[in-house]
Amino acid sequence: MNPTRPLLIDTDPGVDDAWAILMAAAAPDVALVGMSVVGGNVGLEHTLRNTRSLVDLIGRPIPIYPGAATPLLALTEDAAHVHGLDGFGDANLAEPSSPVSSTAAAVGIVEQAHRHAGELELIALGPLTNLALALRLDPSLPQRVKRLLVMGGAIDSPGNTTPFAEFNIGFDPEAAEIVFREWGAIELADWSATLREAPPVQAIESILSGPTAKARFMHAISRKTAGFVADKGADHWAFADPLAMLAMLFPERVSGGRSGSIQIVLNGERRGATDLTANDPNRAQVRVHEQFPVGALQSVLEFALR
Ligand code: BDR
Ligand code: CA
Repeated sequence: MNPTRPLLIDTDPGVDDAWAILMAAAAPDVALVGMSVVGGNVGLEHTLRNTRSLVDLIGRPIPIYPGAATPLLALTEDAAHVHGLDGFGDANLAEPSSPVSSTAAAVGIVEQAHRHAGELELIALGPLTNLALALRLDPSLPQRVKRLLVMGGAIDSPGNTTPFAEFNIGFDPEAAEIVFREWGAIELADWSATLREAPPVQAIESILSGPTAKARFMHAISRKTAGFVADKGADHWAFADPLAMLAMLFPERVSGGRSGSIQIVLNGERRGATDLTANDPNRAQVRVHEQFPVGALQSVLEFALR
Protein backbone atom coordinates (compact mmCIF):
# COMPACT_ATOMS: atom_id res chain seq x y z
CA MET A 1 0.00 0.00 0.00
CA ASN A 2 1.29 3.47 -0.87
CA PRO A 3 1.37 5.76 2.16
CA THR A 4 -1.23 8.37 1.29
CA ARG A 5 -1.86 9.98 4.66
CA PRO A 6 0.70 12.66 5.64
CA LEU A 7 0.95 12.66 9.45
CA LEU A 8 2.87 14.98 11.75
CA ILE A 9 3.34 13.99 15.40
CA ASP A 10 3.87 16.60 18.09
CA THR A 11 5.44 14.74 20.97
CA ASP A 12 7.43 14.66 24.24
CA PRO A 13 8.83 11.11 24.38
CA GLY A 14 8.11 9.55 26.97
CA VAL A 15 7.53 5.81 26.92
CA ASP A 16 3.91 5.91 25.78
CA ASP A 17 4.82 8.46 23.09
CA ALA A 18 7.40 5.94 21.84
CA TRP A 19 4.73 3.24 21.47
CA ALA A 20 2.46 5.65 19.60
CA ILE A 21 5.26 6.77 17.26
CA LEU A 22 6.17 3.17 16.40
CA MET A 23 2.48 2.44 15.72
CA ALA A 24 2.36 5.30 13.22
CA ALA A 25 5.69 4.31 11.66
CA ALA A 26 4.33 0.81 11.02
CA ALA A 27 1.00 1.91 9.53
CA PRO A 28 1.14 1.12 5.80
CA ASP A 29 -1.12 3.99 4.75
CA VAL A 30 0.71 6.69 6.78
CA ALA A 31 3.63 8.87 5.64
CA LEU A 32 5.32 10.29 8.73
CA VAL A 33 6.28 13.76 7.47
CA GLY A 34 7.76 15.05 10.70
CA MET A 35 7.90 15.07 14.45
CA SER A 36 7.78 18.32 16.34
CA VAL A 37 9.22 17.91 19.80
CA VAL A 38 8.27 19.68 23.00
CA GLY A 39 9.52 19.63 26.58
CA GLY A 40 6.99 17.88 28.81
CA ASN A 41 7.44 14.44 30.30
CA VAL A 42 11.08 15.50 30.70
CA GLY A 43 13.18 18.42 29.48
CA LEU A 44 13.51 19.21 25.77
CA GLU A 45 17.14 18.01 25.57
CA HIS A 46 15.89 14.55 26.56
CA THR A 47 12.69 14.51 24.48
CA LEU A 48 14.75 15.54 21.42
CA ARG A 49 17.37 12.88 22.04
CA ASN A 50 14.64 10.27 22.57
CA THR A 51 12.96 11.26 19.30
CA ARG A 52 16.32 10.87 17.53
CA SER A 53 16.69 7.38 19.04
CA LEU A 54 13.23 6.49 17.75
CA VAL A 55 14.01 7.74 14.25
CA ASP A 56 17.22 5.64 14.31
CA LEU A 57 15.10 2.64 15.28
CA ILE A 58 12.48 3.32 12.58
CA GLY A 59 15.34 3.37 10.10
CA ARG A 60 14.20 6.03 7.66
CA PRO A 61 14.74 9.80 7.70
CA ILE A 62 11.98 11.80 9.38
CA PRO A 63 12.39 15.55 10.07
CA ILE A 64 12.72 16.26 13.81
CA TYR A 65 11.68 19.83 14.62
CA PRO A 66 12.92 21.23 17.95
CA GLY A 67 10.17 23.01 19.84
CA ALA A 68 9.41 24.74 23.11
CA ALA A 69 11.55 23.89 26.12
CA THR A 70 9.14 25.48 28.58
CA PRO A 71 5.43 26.26 28.81
CA LEU A 72 4.26 29.67 27.56
CA LEU A 73 3.95 31.23 31.00
CA ALA A 74 4.49 29.17 34.11
CA LEU A 75 7.05 26.46 34.80
CA THR A 76 5.46 23.11 35.71
CA GLU A 77 6.78 19.88 37.20
CA ASP A 78 7.65 17.16 34.66
CA ALA A 79 6.83 13.42 34.72
CA ALA A 80 10.33 11.97 35.23
CA HIS A 81 8.99 9.92 38.15
CA VAL A 82 6.95 7.90 35.61
CA HIS A 83 9.22 7.85 32.56
CA GLY A 84 12.73 8.02 34.11
CA LEU A 85 15.00 11.05 34.42
CA ASP A 86 15.80 10.89 30.70
CA GLY A 87 12.19 10.04 29.74
CA PHE A 88 13.29 6.64 28.41
CA GLY A 89 13.67 4.71 31.66
CA ASP A 90 17.31 5.73 32.18
CA ALA A 91 18.13 2.78 29.94
CA ASN A 92 21.59 4.01 28.91
CA LEU A 93 20.84 4.00 25.21
CA ALA A 94 23.62 4.60 22.68
CA GLU A 95 24.03 8.15 21.36
CA PRO A 96 21.53 8.51 18.46
CA SER A 97 22.67 9.58 15.01
CA SER A 98 19.51 11.05 13.44
CA PRO A 99 19.84 14.83 13.02
CA VAL A 100 17.66 17.57 14.46
CA SER A 101 16.27 19.99 11.86
CA SER A 102 17.32 23.65 11.95
CA THR A 103 13.62 24.52 11.53
CA ALA A 104 11.78 25.31 14.77
CA ALA A 105 8.76 23.15 15.59
CA ALA A 106 6.13 25.87 15.15
CA VAL A 107 7.62 26.76 11.73
CA GLY A 108 7.87 23.07 10.77
CA ILE A 109 4.19 22.53 11.59
CA VAL A 110 3.20 25.56 9.49
CA GLU A 111 5.44 24.48 6.59
CA GLN A 112 4.08 20.93 6.54
CA ALA A 113 0.52 22.24 6.73
CA HIS A 114 1.20 24.36 3.63
CA ARG A 115 2.99 21.52 1.82
CA HIS A 116 0.11 19.10 2.49
CA ALA A 117 -2.72 21.63 2.63
CA GLY A 118 -6.05 19.96 3.30
CA GLU A 119 -4.38 16.57 3.74
CA LEU A 120 -2.11 16.88 6.76
CA GLU A 121 -3.20 14.98 9.85
CA LEU A 122 -1.77 16.18 13.14
CA ILE A 123 -1.65 14.40 16.46
CA ALA A 124 -0.53 16.09 19.67
CA LEU A 125 0.87 13.71 22.29
CA GLY A 126 2.43 16.29 24.59
CA PRO A 127 1.78 19.75 26.05
CA LEU A 128 0.25 22.04 23.41
CA THR A 129 2.97 24.73 23.47
CA ASN A 130 4.24 24.07 19.92
CA LEU A 131 0.71 24.07 18.49
CA ALA A 132 -0.20 27.31 20.22
CA LEU A 133 2.96 28.95 18.83
CA ALA A 134 2.24 27.59 15.34
CA LEU A 135 -1.28 28.97 15.53
CA ARG A 136 0.10 32.38 16.45
CA LEU A 137 2.48 32.24 13.44
CA ASP A 138 -0.29 31.20 11.05
CA PRO A 139 -3.92 31.61 12.16
CA SER A 140 -5.04 29.86 8.94
CA LEU A 141 -3.43 26.63 10.16
CA PRO A 142 -6.69 24.93 11.20
CA GLN A 143 -8.08 25.35 7.69
CA ARG A 144 -5.05 23.57 6.20
CA VAL A 145 -5.00 20.65 8.62
CA LYS A 146 -7.39 17.81 7.86
CA ARG A 147 -7.58 16.47 11.43
CA LEU A 148 -6.14 17.49 14.76
CA LEU A 149 -6.29 14.84 17.45
CA VAL A 150 -5.14 15.80 20.94
CA MET A 151 -4.24 13.40 23.75
CA GLY A 152 -5.14 15.39 26.81
CA GLY A 153 -7.64 16.47 29.41
CA ALA A 154 -9.72 14.58 31.92
CA ILE A 155 -13.39 15.05 31.11
CA ASP A 156 -15.07 12.44 33.33
CA SER A 157 -12.39 11.47 35.82
CA PRO A 158 -9.74 13.00 38.05
CA GLY A 159 -6.56 13.93 36.21
CA ASN A 160 -3.21 12.21 36.57
CA THR A 161 -1.32 15.36 37.62
CA THR A 162 -3.86 16.80 40.07
CA PRO A 163 -7.42 15.74 40.93
CA PHE A 164 -8.45 18.16 38.16
CA ALA A 165 -5.68 18.28 35.56
CA GLU A 166 -4.31 15.77 33.10
CA PHE A 167 -0.56 16.08 32.45
CA ASN A 168 -0.47 17.45 28.87
CA ILE A 169 -3.05 20.16 29.59
CA GLY A 170 -1.86 20.86 33.15
CA PHE A 171 1.75 21.32 31.96
CA ASP A 172 0.83 24.31 29.77
CA PRO A 173 -2.77 25.39 30.37
CA GLU A 174 -2.30 28.73 28.58
CA ALA A 175 -1.17 26.98 25.39
CA ALA A 176 -4.10 24.56 25.69
CA GLU A 177 -6.51 27.46 26.09
CA ILE A 178 -5.22 29.07 22.87
CA VAL A 179 -5.61 25.81 20.95
CA PHE A 180 -9.04 24.90 22.37
CA ARG A 181 -10.29 28.42 21.78
CA GLU A 182 -9.00 28.98 18.28
CA TRP A 183 -8.41 25.74 16.42
CA GLY A 184 -11.75 25.00 14.73
CA ALA A 185 -12.31 21.29 15.13
CA ILE A 186 -10.45 19.02 17.54
CA GLU A 187 -10.73 15.33 18.34
CA LEU A 188 -9.88 14.43 21.89
CA ALA A 189 -8.59 11.22 23.45
CA ASP A 190 -8.58 12.07 27.14
CA TRP A 191 -7.26 10.58 30.38
CA SER A 192 -10.72 9.29 31.35
CA ALA A 193 -10.78 7.18 28.15
CA THR A 194 -7.21 6.07 28.87
CA LEU A 195 -8.30 4.70 32.25
CA ARG A 196 -11.38 3.00 30.77
CA GLU A 197 -9.51 1.36 27.90
CA ALA A 198 -6.20 0.41 29.58
CA PRO A 199 -4.72 -2.87 28.28
CA PRO A 200 -3.72 -5.62 30.75
CA VAL A 201 -0.09 -5.44 31.95
CA GLN A 202 0.38 -9.12 31.08
CA ALA A 203 -0.52 -8.56 27.43
CA ILE A 204 1.95 -5.69 27.15
CA GLU A 205 4.72 -7.62 28.91
CA SER A 206 4.18 -10.47 26.47
CA ILE A 207 4.55 -8.12 23.47
CA LEU A 208 7.66 -6.62 25.09
CA SER A 209 9.27 -10.03 25.39
CA GLY A 210 9.41 -10.37 21.58
CA PRO A 211 12.74 -11.00 19.82
CA THR A 212 12.90 -7.98 17.48
CA ALA A 213 15.15 -4.93 17.84
CA LYS A 214 12.07 -2.76 18.42
CA ALA A 215 10.77 -5.08 21.16
CA ARG A 216 14.19 -5.08 22.85
CA PHE A 217 14.30 -1.28 22.68
CA MET A 218 10.79 -0.87 24.08
CA HIS A 219 11.49 -3.46 26.77
CA ALA A 220 14.61 -1.55 27.87
CA ILE A 221 12.93 1.85 28.06
CA SER A 222 9.77 0.48 29.73
CA ARG A 223 11.36 -0.99 32.89
CA LYS A 224 11.06 2.17 34.95
CA THR A 225 7.40 2.72 33.96
CA ALA A 226 6.66 -0.97 34.51
CA GLY A 227 8.02 -0.55 38.05
CA PHE A 228 5.81 2.50 38.56
CA VAL A 229 2.74 0.52 37.40
CA ALA A 230 3.69 -2.47 39.61
CA ASP A 231 4.27 -0.25 42.67
CA LYS A 232 0.71 1.01 42.28
CA GLY A 233 -0.54 -2.58 42.22
CA ALA A 234 -2.22 -1.92 38.86
CA ASP A 235 -2.99 -4.85 36.56
CA HIS A 236 -3.70 -2.54 33.61
CA TRP A 237 -1.28 -0.14 31.94
CA ALA A 238 -2.62 3.36 31.20
CA PHE A 239 -1.62 3.72 27.53
CA ALA A 240 -2.61 7.32 26.84
CA ASP A 241 -0.67 8.12 23.67
CA PRO A 242 -1.14 4.69 21.99
CA LEU A 243 -4.90 4.98 22.54
CA ALA A 244 -4.88 8.41 20.91
CA MET A 245 -2.81 7.03 18.03
CA LEU A 246 -5.28 4.18 17.60
CA ALA A 247 -8.05 6.74 17.07
CA MET A 248 -5.81 8.64 14.64
CA LEU A 249 -4.94 5.55 12.59
CA PHE A 250 -8.44 4.04 12.48
CA PRO A 251 -10.90 6.95 12.35
CA GLU A 252 -13.64 4.80 10.89
CA ARG A 253 -13.48 2.50 13.92
CA VAL A 254 -13.95 5.20 16.56
CA SER A 255 -17.58 5.54 17.57
CA GLY A 256 -19.81 7.20 20.14
CA GLY A 257 -18.49 10.29 21.84
CA ARG A 258 -19.74 13.71 22.76
CA SER A 259 -19.30 17.10 21.16
CA GLY A 260 -18.98 20.52 22.71
CA SER A 261 -16.44 23.19 23.54
CA ILE A 262 -13.66 22.97 26.08
CA GLN A 263 -12.71 25.72 28.47
CA ILE A 264 -9.32 25.37 30.15
CA VAL A 265 -9.25 26.49 33.78
CA LEU A 266 -6.25 28.82 34.21
CA ASN A 267 -6.46 29.81 37.87
CA GLY A 268 -6.92 28.33 41.30
CA GLU A 269 -6.75 24.74 42.44
CA ARG A 270 -8.57 23.57 39.28
CA ARG A 271 -5.82 25.01 37.03
CA GLY A 272 -5.46 22.73 34.00
CA ALA A 273 -8.99 21.29 34.26
CA THR A 274 -10.84 20.72 30.97
CA ASP A 275 -14.48 21.78 31.30
CA LEU A 276 -16.70 20.44 28.51
CA THR A 277 -19.55 22.85 27.84
CA ALA A 278 -22.28 23.16 25.25
CA ASN A 279 -20.91 24.09 21.87
CA ASP A 280 -19.71 27.70 21.83
CA PRO A 281 -19.47 29.02 18.23
CA ASN A 282 -16.49 31.17 19.24
CA ARG A 283 -14.40 28.22 20.36
CA ALA A 284 -13.11 24.99 18.81
CA GLN A 285 -15.69 22.26 18.28
CA VAL A 286 -14.39 19.29 20.20
CA ARG A 287 -15.31 15.66 19.69
CA VAL A 288 -14.48 13.66 22.82
CA HIS A 289 -13.95 10.10 21.65
CA GLU A 290 -15.51 7.49 23.86
CA GLN A 291 -15.32 4.16 22.08
CA PHE A 292 -11.98 3.12 20.67
CA PRO A 293 -11.18 -0.02 18.70
CA VAL A 294 -9.32 -1.41 21.73
CA GLY A 295 -9.79 -4.96 20.47
CA ALA A 296 -7.24 -3.99 17.81
CA LEU A 297 -4.78 -2.32 20.19
CA GLN A 298 -2.77 -5.39 21.11
CA SER A 299 -2.32 -6.56 17.53
CA VAL A 300 -1.44 -3.02 16.41
CA LEU A 301 1.18 -2.81 19.18
CA GLU A 302 2.55 -6.22 18.22
CA PHE A 303 2.71 -5.15 14.58
CA ALA A 304 4.50 -1.93 15.56
CA LEU A 305 7.37 -3.91 17.14
CA ARG A 306 7.94 -6.30 14.23
C1 BDR B 1 0.05 12.10 28.88
O1 BDR B 1 1.05 12.66 29.73
C2 BDR B 1 2.31 12.09 29.45
O2 BDR B 1 2.96 11.74 30.61
C3 BDR B 1 2.06 10.91 28.55
O3 BDR B 1 3.12 10.78 27.62
C4 BDR B 1 0.77 11.26 27.85
O4 BDR B 1 0.97 12.04 26.70
C5 BDR B 1 -0.94 11.36 29.72
O5 BDR B 1 -1.53 12.21 30.65
CA1 CA C 1 3.16 12.24 25.69
